[in-house]
Amino acid sequence: MKSPARTTVTAALPYANGPLHIGHIAGAYLPADIYVRSLRARGKEVLFICGSDEHGAAITLRALKEGTTPQAIVDKYHALMGKAFVDFGIGFDIYHRTSSELHRKTSQEFFLQLNANGAFTENTEEQYYDTEAKQFLADRYIMGTCPHCGNPDAYGDQCEKCGSALSPKDLIDPRSTLSGSKPVLKPTKHWYLPMERSQQWMQEWINTGMLDGAQQHDPAEWKPQVLGQCNSWLKEGLRPRAMTRDLTWGVPVPLPGAEGKALYVWLDAPIGYISATKQWAFDHGADWEKWWKADDTRLLHFIGKDNIVFHAIIFPILLKEHGGFILPQNVPANEFLNLEGQKLSTSRNWAVWLHEYIERWPDRQDELRYALATILPEFRDSEFTWKDFQDKNNNELVAIIGNFVQRVFVLCNKYYDGKVPQPAPSNAAQGEHDTVLWGELSAIPGKVAEDIDKFRFRDALLTAMNAARLGNKYLTDTEPWKLHKTDPDRVRTVLFNSLRITAALSVVLEPFLPFTAQKLRTMLGLGELKWGDALREGLMVPGAPIAEAVHLFKPISDEEIAAEVDRLKSNTPVVQQPPATATAPVITPEPAMKPHISFDDFSRMDIRIGTIKEAEKVPKADKLLKLSIDVGEAAPRTIVSGIAQHFAPEELPGKQVLVLCNLEPRKMRGVESQGMVLMAEDAQGKLVFVQPGSEVPAGGEVR
Ligand code: MF3
Ligand code: ZN
Repeated sequence: MKSPARTTVTAALPYANGPLHIGHIAGAYLPADIYVRSLRARGKEVLFICGSDEHGAAITLRALKEGTTPQAIVDKYHALMGKAFVDFGIGFDIYHRTSSELHRKTSQEFFLQLNANGAFTENTEEQYYDTEAKQFLADRYIMGTCPHCGNPDAYGDQCEKCGSALSPKDLIDPRSTLSGSKPVLKPTKHWYLPMERSQQWMQEWINTGMLDGAQQHDPAEWKPQVLGQCNSWLKEGLRPRAMTRDLTWGVPVPLPGAEGKALYVWLDAPIGYISATKQWAFDHGADWEKWWKADDTRLLHFIGKDNIVFHAIIFPILLKEHGGFILPQNVPANEFLNLEGQKLSTSRNWAVWLHEYIERWPDRQDELRYALATILPEFRDSEFTWKDFQDKNNNELVAIIGNFVQRVFVLCNKYYDGKVPQPAPSNAAQGEHDTVLWGELSAIPGKVAEDIDKFRFRDALLTAMNAARLGNKYLTDTEPWKLHKTDPDRVRTVLFNSLRITAALSVVLEPFLPFTAQKLRTMLGLGELKWGDALREGLMVPGAPIAEAVHLFKPISDEEIAAEVDRLKSNTPVVQQPPATATAPVITPEPAMKPHISFDDFSRMDIRIGTIKEAEKVPKADKLLKLSIDVGEAAPRTIVSGIAQHFAPEELPGKQVLVLCNLEPRKMRGVESQGMVLMAEDAQGKLVFVQPGSEVPAGGEVR
C-alpha cells in the first residue's frame, strides 16, 4: 500500500425527507468531521464531501404524506439540513444535492459507461405491483416481514431493525406502502447488476485487502461489525440487483425504450459523492479526478450501519465495473444511537432535532458535540439521555475544561495585568510537578491523533480531556495563589506553563469542540494552530496580551433538563419550515388552515362516537391516560391519550368522545393504542371534549 498523498472523506448523503437529529450526527457526520479536522490540523490534504440524497421513495413518500411535491420536499429539507450542518460546525468542503443538473449528467454518464462495458444484464422479470395505486413497488414502496430478524416492518430494500439489505421478493407477507394492499406480480424490464460475477474478487478484497495482485487496504483496520455484515451478505451469495426502477422521480435512464424508468436511488446517490466533488472542483478551479482516481488517494466512507453493504459491496462493484476509479480503503460505519431508552424515530417524533436544539440552546453546539462524541456508537448501539448530557456538561466541560481555563485567566489577569508572564530563566524554577506534567502532556497530541486515525473517537476524546485534567492537577499541586507573594518567579513559571497547556488544549480539542477551540485561541491571542503547534516552544510570547477570564461553559440545571425530557415525551409536532435566512434561525409558524384534501382522503378516515368505559394513568408517564372506549364493537378498544394533565381518570367514564378509529395502532409506553381521541382546546389551552348534541349509540359514524 502506498502511503496516501490525500484523503477523500465522504459522509452518507442524508435523504432530504426530514430534519436532522442527533442519531444522524452520531452515526456519520460527527465522526467524519472529527476525522477531517484532525487531518487538516496535521496539514494533510483532505476533501470532505456531502450533500442531500434527493431521489428515491423516501422523498416521494414524504411528499405524499405532506401533500406536496417531491421537489418542494427536497428544497425544504436540503435548506434545513444544510443549515444544521453549518450550525454544528460540520465542515464539509461542499454540501451538494442529487437533484442538480451536474449530478444528473454525471450519473447518466456513469450508467452509460457501465452499460457500454457490459456491466448490466437486461431482464424482464416479475415485480410486485400495486393494482390500486397502479405502480410497481420496489424499495420503500413495499413492506413486509424481514426474513433475517422477523421485523414485521422491513422495507423492500432493507430492514432498518437488523440492517440487512433486502429485495422485495425476500419479504414475507409483502404489502404496499401506498395502499396497504397485497401486491401482485407483473412483468417489467430492468437493467440488472449481476453481482454474482463479483463474488470472488469481492470476498477476497474485503477479507484480505488484495485486488488485482495489490494490497489495497488492511482488513485489520476495518471494524469487526462492518466485516461481519459484508461476510454474512457474501455468504448468502451475491445476486443480480436491479439498477433501474419504474419511477418518474429520479435520474431518467438515458437509453431508448426506457421511458418512465429512473436510476435506482442506490446507484445514483453514491455517484452523488463524485458529482459533488466535480462541483467543488469547478467552484475552486481544481481537479476532481485525483480525488477519485489517483492510487495514492485514500477514500473513506463514513456511514451508519444501515448503509454498510451499499458502500462496502455494491458501490465498489459499480466503481470497478466502470473502471478508472479507486475503491474505498475503509468504510467506518457506526451502529445506532438510541434516545432515552427507545429507538430514534422520525415518524414518532422521538428525536432531538438539531434545528430545534439550536433554538433552545443557542451557542451550545460544542456541548452537544461533546456529549455525542463521548457516546458514539462506534462498536455497538449506544444511548443519549438528557441526564447524561447534563452530567457531561456539568462534570466535564464546566468542571474540567472550564474550571482550568477560568483559573488560569483569572490569575494571569490579576497578577500580570492580562499579559503572558515571563517564566523564570532556564530551569531555575522548575519543580518535580513540571517534569511530570511535560512528560504526560507531551504524549497526548500523538495519542489523540493515533486514536482518531483508528476511528476510535471516544478514546481520542478521553485522552484529549486528560490534557485539561493534567492542567487542573498541576494547579492544585503547585498552588500558585499561595506562592504569589513569596515566590513570584515560580508563580510566573507555573502560569506560563498553564497558558501553554491551554494552547495545547485548543489544538487537541479542536476536532471535537471547534467552537471552544476557537474561543481559546482568541483568548490566548493566537491565530490558527496546527497539530504540531500544540506544545511548540515559543508559541506563547511573554508580554503578549491575553483576554479576560470568561466562562467557557455554563452549568445546566435540573429544571432545564426536565423541560427537555417533558418536551420529548409530549411529542410536539416537528417544525417543518426551513428558516428564512442562513444566519437568523426563524421558525415560521404552521399555516392556520391546512391545504385541500380530496373527498376520498376524507372518507378514508373512520371517525366514530365512542363511550369511555374506563380510564387509568399510565405508570411513569405524566401526560398519558389509558382509556377503554366502546366504539360499537364486541369489546371496548384501548386508546392511549395524552390528556392526563387535563382530566382526572375518575371524571371520564360515561363521557362520549370523537374517536379516529382507523389510525394506525401504535405502542406508547408499552401499551398498544388502537385509535385516537379527538379534542379541542379552549382559550386557556385546556383540552375540552367535542361531544354529540345528544347521546348517540356508541359506534355511530361521524361523516
Ligand atoms: N440517503 C441514504 C440514507 O440516508 C444514504 C445515501 S449514502 C450514498 O440512508 F452513498 F448513497 F450517498
Ligand atoms: Zn431484519
